[in-house]
Parts: sequence; C-alpha cells; structure tokens
Amino acid sequence: MESEEGDDIFQSLPVFAPDNALYQLYQYKGFWTTKTRLLEILAVHNQFVPLPTDVLLTSYPKSGSNWLKSLIFSIINRSTSKASLLSTHPSHLVPNLEIKVYRGGKLFMRRIFSTHIPYHLLPPSMKDSNCKIIYIARNPKDVIVSLWHFLGSNKSLPPITLEELVDGMCTGVFNHGPYFDHVLGYWKERLSDGSCSRRVFFLTYEELKRDTVDHVRRLGEFLGCPFDGDEEVGEIVRMCSFEHLSNVEANQSEEKIPYGTFTYKSFFRKGEVGDYKNWLTPEMIERIDRVAEEKLRGSGLSLLG
Ligand code: A3P
Repeated sequence: MESEEGDDIFQSLPVFAPDNALYQLYQYKGFWTTKTRLLEILAVHNQFVPLPTDVLLTSYPKSGSNWLKSLIFSIINRSTSKASLLSTHPSHLVPNLEIKVYRGGKLFMRRIFSTHIPYHLLPPSMKDSNCKIIYIARNPKDVIVSLWHFLGSNKSLPPITLEELVDGMCTGVFNHGPYFDHVLGYWKERLSDGSCSRRVFFLTYEELKRDTVDHVRRLGEFLGCPFDGDEEVGEIVRMCSFEHLSNVEANQSEEKIPYGTFTYKSFFRKGEVGDYKNWLTPEMIERIDRVAEEKLRGSGLSLLG
C-alpha cells in the first residue's frame, strides 16, 4: 500500500516537520496526520464496505476510547463478554478501522470498529449507510495531560513538553488535529441528525463518569439491544470500570500493541476528571480556555470544567 498514488498525494500536501517533531505530519483536507495513518485512511476509502449493522466508535485520542470500546463490546455481546474482558485488551475487542482494513485480522460477530478519523473524512459509503456512530469527547485540558503522559511512557519517542502540546492543541497543528474541528464535526452531525441522535450518539468522558449506568442503558437502546433490568447494566459498569479494567492482566502488559510502539498498559493511567489541575499552569489553562470558548462559541457544546 506504499503506493505511487500515495506518494503522489504526499508531494502535494502541506507538511509539518520541525527538527524535534515526534512525527512528520501531513495536512489532508484540513486534518493533520502521519503518512502511515493517511495511507490507512485512503485504504478505508477505497476498500471498506460498510454494513448497516456496523457500529463505529469515534474519538480524538486520549478521550476515553478504550473505556467506550469495553462498554460497547459488553452491551452488544452481553453474557459472553465477561470472559473476553478478563483476557483481552479493549483494542483487540474493538479493532481500529484503519488498521483492520489496511492489515486484516479477526472480527467479532457484530462489527464494531474504533477510529480517530474526523467526520468529514469518513468514507461517503459509511455516511450513507445506517451504521451507528458513537463519539466520545473529553475536556481538552485532560486530553493534553493524558496525551503527555502517554507519549512520555514511550521511551522510543523523543521527549515532548506540555508547552508544545498546549501549543499544538491551540494552533490545531497536532496529530489528528485540529482538535476542535474534530469534536465539532461529530457534534454538528449529531445536531443535524433529524431525530437527534438516531445515528450519531455524542457523549463526553465527563458525562459518562458522572452517570455511567444511565449512559449504558441509553447506549443499549441506541444500539437496538435495550436492557430489561438493572442487574446486567450494573455488572457491565463494574466490569468496565477503570478500577477493574486497569487490573486485568492483559491490560497491565508491558508488551507493545501490534502496529504501534505503545504498551498495552499505557492506555490505563489514572482515569479521572480534572487531573489537568495538577499539571497545567494557570497560563496554559487560560490559553486553552480562551481558544475553546472561541472555537465552540454558538455550537451549544461546552467541554470545559
Ligand atoms: P488518563 O490518562 O487521564 O488517566 P484512550 O482510551 O482514548 O486512549 O483514553 C485514555 C484515557 O482514558 C486515559 O486517561 C485512561 O486512563 C482513561 N481510561 C482508560 N480506561 C478507563 C476506564 N475504564 N474508565 C475511565 N477512564 C479510563
């Protein structure tokens, strides 16, 4: 797939490659990403055939996607999910769409994929299909802190400072960025969805934390597999809690994930709301808040706190 077509595309794209950059980034239709990821996205466009029963979990990195993967996998697979959760990292329960299409691999019964592709770059066939999309967003300040620890846990990458990440978040020149465009793309789609969330379910990490039980119940209804009683919901919430998942052996492994340089363990750190207060300076907080207010003004969406 390192095709000539791909190489042609790269020659004409804006590139971001300062000396100490973690990755060389390319800007494709407003979206900043790495060469490998862009090749994978192009493969999704060329090869992926969506099914109406597909479920797509979408997010900006470090927004709680692995938590969402565990919950949705459990909601759909119910009683059989427990054994899988106890033995398998969430990234294997719900494969990444781009990596799956590009590299192949095993799938569970009802297809569930995860992705960081922004809404405007999803394949048109997927937008036209009846597949369900669930987007999880998170306070950008917690995203930055989570990302900084995540990148810092990977000793094969050059060190990056919080200042650099705050700068990337605010300017938009950031892997998978601009962050605010990413969130707003799905938010606007959810609002324009006539029935309000028949196809796109938009939730935040903070809301999910505040009332996980209510969200699991609503997600069950959204996915067409509602719950009868409270017991099953409570069990899913417990099994997918940070306290439980972070202690599962498969999630504590120091081995590296396939097609990546991060360990399985690095996807579980603290799992709290508002940890940014322990790491960001008042100036950083003020800068992100200012940009967030500007970008989100008039959208009806608030991600601050
Ligand atoms: P922190 O670094 O703030 O702890 P992603 O899965 O999108 O990569 O997001 C990772 C973030 O989600 C990390 O945040 C991680 O600890 C947190 N997380 C992982 N599993 C979780 C769970 N079951 N409940 C709540 N947060 C979870």
